[in-house]
Amino acid sequence: MKLFTLMCILSFGVGVNVFIVPHSHNDAGWLETVDFYYSANCNKTLNNMFTLLSEHDSVKFCWSEVVFLQMWLKEHPEKKPLMEEFIRSGRFEIIGGGWVQNDEALMDFELLIRQMRSGLDYLSENLSVENVKIAWQLDTFGHSSLNAAVWERMGFNTLVFARIDDIYKKYLKYGGNLQFLWKPQGLGAKNGLLTHVLNPHYAPPSFLDPREYFYSFGGSRCYLTLPANDQEIEICVENFEDYVYAVSYMHKTENIMILLGDDFFYTDIVFSRNLIGLVDKIMERVNDINVIYATPGEYFDAVMAVDEVYGVFKGDLVPLISEVIPRIKPWTGFYTTKPMLKKLTYDTNKIVRIAEILQSLILRNKFVAYDLSLATHHDAITGTCRSHVYQDYIDKLDIDYLKAMEAISQSLNKLYSSSEPTQLSLPYRVMFIINPLNRPISKLLSFYSSIKYIKIFDSNFEAIQSQSVPQDKGFDIYFRAVLNGFSIKTYFIIESNIECDICSIPSEASRKAILNNTNIEVFLKDGYLNSIRKDGIDYDIDSRVVRYSGDLGGPYTFMTYGNGSYIGDLVKYRAYSGPLVEVAESKFAFKSSVFIQTIILPNDDEVFELKFYVYADVGSEIFMRFQQKYQKGDWFYTFNTANVMKRTIHPNQYFLKGQNVFPISGALLVKLKEKFLFIVPSFPLGVAMPSEKTFELHLHRHPGKDDQLGLGSYQEDIYPVEHSFSISLRSLNLTDLWLGFLSHRASPYISFLSGTNFSIAESYLDSETYTTPWAYKTEYNLLPNSNCLYISSLNERKGKQICTLLNICNSPQHFDLPGLEVLEELDLSGNHLKHINPIKEGQEIEFLVNKNSGKSVVDFEEEVGRGIIKPFALHSFEVRTGENSKPEITFYGNNMSIEPEPIGGYYLEIGFYFVTWLVLVLFIYYYFTLARKNKGDIEGEVEIEEIYEGDERVYEDTIAYSKARF
Ligand SMILES: *[C@@H]1O[C@H](CO)[C@@H](O)[C@H](O)[C@H]1NC(C)=O
Ligand SMILES: *[C@@H]1O[C@H](CO)[C@@H](O)[C@H](O)[C@H]1NC(C)=O
Ligand SMILES: *[C@@H]1O[C@H](CO)[C@@H](O)[C@H](O)[C@H]1NC(C)=O
Ligand SMILES: *[C@@H]1O[C@H](CO)[C@@H](O)[C@H](O)[C@H]1NC(C)=O
Repeated sequence: MKLFTLMCILSFGVGVNVFIVPHSHNDAGWLETVDFYYSANCNKTLNNMFTLLSEHDSVKFCWSEVVFLQMWLKEHPEKKPLMEEFIRSGRFEIIGGGWVQNDEALMDFELLIRQMRSGLDYLSENLSVENVKIAWQLDTFGHSSLNAAVWERMGFNTLVFARIDDIYKKYLKYGGNLQFLWKPQGLGAKNGLLTHVLNPHYAPPSFLDPREYFYSFGGSRCYLTLPANDQEIEICVENFEDYVYAVSYMHKTENIMILLGDDFFYTDIVFSRNLIGLVDKIMERVNDINVIYATPGEYFDAVMAVDEVYGVFKGDLVPLISEVIPRIKPWTGFYTTKPMLKKLTYDTNKIVRIAEILQSLILRNKFVAYDLSLATHHDAITGTCRSHVYQDYIDKLDIDYLKAMEAISQSLNKLYSSSEPTQLSLPYRVMFIINPLNRPISKLLSFYSSIKYIKIFDSNFEAIQSQSVPQDKGFDIYFRAVLNGFSIKTYFIIESNIECDICSIPSEASRKAILNNTNIEVFLKDGYLNSIRKDGIDYDIDSRVVRYSGDLGGPYTFMTYGNGSYIGDLVKYRAYSGPLVEVAESKFAFKSSVFIQTIILPNDDEVFELKFYVYADVGSEIFMRFQQKYQKGDWFYTFNTANVMKRTIHPNQYFLKGQNVFPISGALLVKLKEKFLFIVPSFPLGVAMPSEKTFELHLHRHPGKDDQLGLGSYQEDIYPVEHSFSISLRSLNLTDLWLGFLSHRASPYISFLSGTNFSIAESYLDSETYTTPWAYKTEYNLLPNSNCLYISSLNERKGKQICTLLNICNSPQHFDLPGLEVLEELDLSGNHLKHINPIKEGQEIEFLVNKNSGKSVVDFEEEVGRGIIKPFALHSFEVRTGENSKPEITFYGNNMSIEPEPIGGYYLEIGFYFVTWLVLVLFIYYYFTLARKNKGDIEGEVEIEEIYEGDERVYEDTIAYSKARF
């Protein structure tokens, strides 16, 4: 504790202590873009605050959004010493410390950690700040146990926020529990966070609030204009005393914090001086109350210096339902608003993780995607921003995505240029597949080609089986990749105009409504998923697309009456079978929209994928509804990548829909008989329980109106989105759940060589043809493999390598992965572990929505000892991946040349220096012999007859959109 604070507390003696905390809440984009807010507001706020700190000895200030600090320091580098001085003297405190104040409902643990580290790394590297203690989430729309768990593991000891259900808030206030101990479960969380709920919000009490009317006009403000006159100051003093006594019972100790600030505050220096001047005068005149300016840290030091017992809360605080008169507002719409932005954020997160690891491992560079972190802001990923701001986030994410691709190219370039030349001949095109999981996998993958016959060669240059499935105007080429954990494997591709040996086998097209393999059978009805049979047992989950009117809610809130109407008539259906995969494609029409559903069942998996391409017309809410006929009561569970929580139905739900919607950032688990249906989305969305046996995935929405929560008008969304759900039937087993989640989110990354210096493209159509021998190794195993320890991240901080590991097994694990030498255990933020005094625990507080406590339904073990990672815990370590611990390299095909290949009964001798020749000869040969012979067969083969085509032109348009975006 700072000496100054200690002196203040001692000198306070008895009576109430009030800590006035000047602050500004700075949205990183909302009505305007982040850059606009910087120049119009934050630049001024920071300029003014440093002026005030210099002018006024006792004033304090704090700041939480690092994105703006960084912009300011970049523009005013000369101010850095001054800022550092104020930080050292305790007059300026960094709280929060993430790049932004992220949304909580839509985070998975990796995206959350990435955004926090963007800020915390910056603070450590540029301002030597490594002791941010207070998680500061003033404005986010509900608070999740995932976030609380991660903050605890990052070394925070306190969490401050304002938004919580009104009913809960009243309950907390009148029980004197506005401060409680939140003990989230999962990821190794243990001691919890002292949690402070602001009363009433993050603005000052109304008598001080400049936005309130002056009291004689019916409002409650104590002054007309600033500076206040003597008479007004007297009223302000009275109001202040009344306020303090009125709220003191809501807190545990005699210490009260009053925030003096609001959105984009202190932008006007004259106003700022006058407001501080008024508070100075109030401070001088109040009786029996000790008042000081403080930073949040000083306040909480004072609180924690008191020996107190706090109520314990172990649940979750989403969804947020507020009782705004005249009606209830369920903040459940933003789980799905502007879904394309959510998808782009998670797609970027996936590739950034790969780029970070490769850059650290291969180049010892730090790769940071600040705009990915920006996109986690609580008005960005939530979609609660105006249209031009939405577009700004998209543009920024696109740039970060390309930067990550470049970082991968750069790593490949270094990796391959240092490898010894081999004698592999070069075929047509080169495909790299990166397995981002550090465990071996065998997975069905695909890429889109305009050519039907493709021959894929594995790293050891053996042709592997593939299957082509008609798609749009070309084909999806499916193949099975067998990959070591965190490996990069090279594949080679040759195209053929005609059928050839071990070329992709064309699929058999039919209208059959069953996809099956030896593990599982998937039944469709009218093009929709209808039931699943596993181990001889049928599980009915009849699905349909449902549309509700979206005019009661808005970007933040979802609210509607009625049961919605079924839409989406089947206009085209095709099932495709072959040696590797069964695919069912259904096209549904509604007005001018076409929805496309693709179900993909690999021939030897138990998991299938359901993709759904969808767009919501203005004023609509589009769901995919499922009916189950087995369970009543407890059957609906959500996984937020820390906890599995049971969710039960809210009785009002029957009448007003919208309250019984939950975000799924990890997975939805639906109990059907003895098994659970696991649905893992590729990016978060809302999931509703509209009636006792029905659940709905909120696929897209397009509110036609504003919901009076700030945006002020209708905001358009021109982007459709494609969801991808991984679906399986399993027992409730956390290891399987984590595996299912990780293998979907961190699925293999496919790219194609497209130019010099190993530049890559994601589309096969953009790949280049090479005619010189392939003189590089064909497979790299870059990280140690483990079935239990998942390497979540490896990146650089101040020249050190920091590795974060998650134990996904139900047994304790030692960290002894070969090739990763442990130097020191750190907290999740990458700072040294701190000792935090545990807070004394009192009675348990529970907020029950029906029977739902938001507590994890899975028990987590207590800590098992140092150096051991307990089940489902997340730990960070400083590691070394130096010369001595160089990862093992597998390498096939040294001095290997292309073997003669049987093609159509003929053999061609192919030498590896004759690739040009190969291509030419193959082409000419085939064209003049086999192609002609087989012509009739080929043409007749996969011609698709249409059942009925909807509005073809509109369909083309929506496809064009999807091509542009995905
Ligand atoms: C930031 O504030 C300074 C000082 O008022 C001003 O000179 C500068 O132009 C501002 N920068 C931006 C980007 O608006
Ligand atoms: C912050 O530190 C990083 C790494 O040390 C450096 O590259 C960057 O220029 C610094 N930024 C500022 C604004 O000081
Ligand atoms: C799938 O079902 C069909 C028809 O019932 C059956 O002939 C076929 O053997 C099944 N396939 C597998 C892999 O079980
Ligand atoms: C959970 O699944 C894992 C991996 O599939 C298995 O090893 C483990 O035994 C299962 N645990 C239980 C309790 O069934």
